[in-house]
Amino acid sequence: MWFETNLTKLLNINYPIIQAGMAGGPTTPELIATVSNSGGLGTLGAGYMSPEEIKEAIHKIQTLTNKPFAVNLFIPEDVLVEDQKVLKIHNTLQSFYDELGIEQPVLPKTWGPSFELQMKVIIEEKVPVFSYTFGSLDHKWVEQLKANGTKIVGTATTVKEAKLLEEMNVDAIVAQGSEAGGHRGTFACKAEDAMIGTMALVPQVVDAVNIPVIAAGGIMDGRGLLGSLSLGASGVQMGTAFLTTKESGANQLYKNTLIEATEEDTIVTIKFSGKAARGLKNEYTERLKDLPDNEVPSYPIQNSLTQPLRKEAAKQGKAKWLSMWAGQGLRLTQVEGAEQVIRRVMDQASNTLNLLKND
Ligand SMILES: Cc1cc2nc3c(=O)[nH]c(=O)nc-3n(C[C@H](O)[C@H](O)[C@H](O)COP(=O)(O)O)c2cc1C
Repeated sequence: MWFETNLTKLLNINYPIIQAGMAGGPTTPELIATVSNSGGLGTLGAGYMSPEEIKEAIHKIQTLTNKPFAVNLFIPEDVLVEDQKVLKIHNTLQSFYDELGIEQPVLPKTWGPSFELQMKVIIEEKVPVFSYTFGSLDHKWVEQLKANGTKIVGTATTVKEAKLLEEMNVDAIVAQGSEAGGHRGTFACKAEDAMIGTMALVPQVVDAVNIPVIAAGGIMDGRGLLGSLSLGASGVQMGTAFLTTKESGANQLYKNTLIEATEEDTIVTIKFSGKAARGLKNEYTERLKDLPDNEVPSYPIQNSLTQPLRKEAAKQGKAKWLSMWAGQGLRLTQVEGAEQVIRRVMDQASNTLNLLKND
């Protein structure tokens, strides 16, 4: 069948569709299991989760499906605390905190969960697929994962990054185009130099490596899947399309805003987290528009400084200050179950293929 590819064989799935790991709540065990039970690959976005939370989520997923699934983590980066920048952004953010009526946080001593301990859970639990972004995975982990039979998927935003990942022995590569929602996975060049659209990036990555390539960024339906396969990809990774599903854990305010939004409504900004990410424009991005990027503390410092603001804004129903990551395919979002997404994408791709053949 046309949809059996190197990727479906590698990951032991029916359809070449991966639901992106989306850290921060959208990827509930129900979403992941539904995608995997429907023939795709569900992914737990575990970047911000503690080792205990990851373990618990894996066990929950295993009660809901016996199909393969993935866990996704962030490769940690060196943390560079620049006091002057922190002081300045503190002053800038104060008005948001005042309006929300909460205290602004002091700098934490640690930056998110320990990657070492997160990885220990991935190894212990022998997850079927491990995917990652923001860098390249150390050999010591690659060896342990391979010994367990875990398939490894890295994220690249340029050909250079794809080649670096292949050298590190990953099994497949997500080629993340600039249309993509969420953080840019860029790690080997400046984020602004890696804004390559999916249509341009995928065939260039396909030509440069000898392992399956997964297209990501702006893929919302069967046309996107078929187009990606035509470019030489062996499958797709979709994030935004799954955010509005009934199983998604994205909060309702975020879901409603996504449904109303159009392709004109996103921006790539570092103002929420200190790292380039595509999300919906809102009052927060507008108010900080004129703040030069080089005055924003780097990731994950800025992320920590704005986290309570975003959490409280969600509690108070203020979408105007939320980070609402989203790709450019926004008009194609639908309110439906995750199983329907898979079925709709596959049906549309089959129908489109038939139309092309009959012409
Ligand atoms: C809300 C959201 C959160 C995301 N979080 C992650 C993440 O934790 N890890 C990761 O590898 N990619 C993450 N991404 C990026 C996706 O893996 C993927 O590249 C992107 O969703 C593809 O573009 P699309 O949103 O247009 O489908 C996220 C994307 C979104 C929309």
